Amino acid sequence: MRKALIPAAGLGTRMFPATKAVKKELLPMITPDGVCKPILQSIVEEALSAGCDDIAIIVRPADRDLIASYFSPCSDAQLARLKDDGKAQAAHLADISRHISYVEQREQQGFGHAVHCARDWADGQPVLLLLGDHLYSSNEARSCARQLLDAFDSLEPRATLSLYQAPGSTVHHYGTAGGSWANPQHTLLDIAEFAEKPSLDYARQHLAVPGLPHDTFLCVYGQYVLTPDVFRILGEQIAANRRLKGEFQLTTALDELRQTQGLRGFMVNGEHFDTGQPREYLSSILAFANKRLPTTP
Ligand code: G1P
Repeated sequence: MRKALIPAAGLGTRMFPATKAVKKELLPMITPDGVCKPILQSIVEEALSAGCDDIAIIVRPADRDLIASYFSPCSDAQLARLKDDGKAQAAHLADISRHISYVEQREQQGFGHAVHCARDWADGQPVLLLLGDHLYSSNEARSCARQLLDAFDSLEPRATLSLYQAPGSTVHHYGTAGGSWANPQHTLLDIAEFAEKPSLDYARQHLAVPGLPHDTFLCVYGQYVLTPDVFRILGEQIAANRRLKGEFQLTTALDELRQTQGLRGFMVNGEHFDTGQPREYLSSILAFANKRLPTTP
């Protein structure tokens, strides 16, 4: 799979008023080896680590120049002031920027609407979708996104999303999937229902998965493989003005796809960090920065 899509067109209301000054995807994070960079760059790197070399960022028209100027070469004057490690970072940034293009979302009508704006760019191919406000850390040599693509490639093509075990107290913030395990290792789930930000009561009644600890559920990890039909269903939902909580939701489209073609969940061998809410941002960037670097043999 060559294509990866990163939505960065939201208004960042949960991080307001900081997001009046800085887009949440451009807030800084610090890598375990001590580099400070925008969260969005780390997500682009996650896409590249999975082998995707055609990366589209969904932006608001008003933010396009700002984001594109970040992903553009440094001026000679800037370069002249950098030390060697800064120059290496600038060269790395210029290198990854070659793979980035932009898709505009002109009206903020929800996550599903944003993804649908990329339908022409997707061009009928499967697409890796990475949320614009998450950080990922793999527990193995393959990145989290590469693990997901390997799972997708090794089975019959079906929209697949990475999941993680989340406490019931948080499900009202996240897309949550229920279903039954499709393999003895419990790494693949046949999703029987996918609900957007359910209440804990709803999750208990409809989204329980066998074998998980009490009041533990499977939530969106922030990485999806979308098949071309997802774009078709989103288009139908938009044409019919089918909204949930006022917005067009990707979760609703994926749940509709599930009913006809099935939807697969994948348990990643890694950790993800949500940076889209104030306290989660704080704990996520701290935890990520303090992750031990993999030891070199
Ligand atoms: C989106 C998705 C939701 C997912 C969440 C993760 O919601 O719709 O399913 O769990 O990202 O952060 P948002 O955070 O845009 O409200």
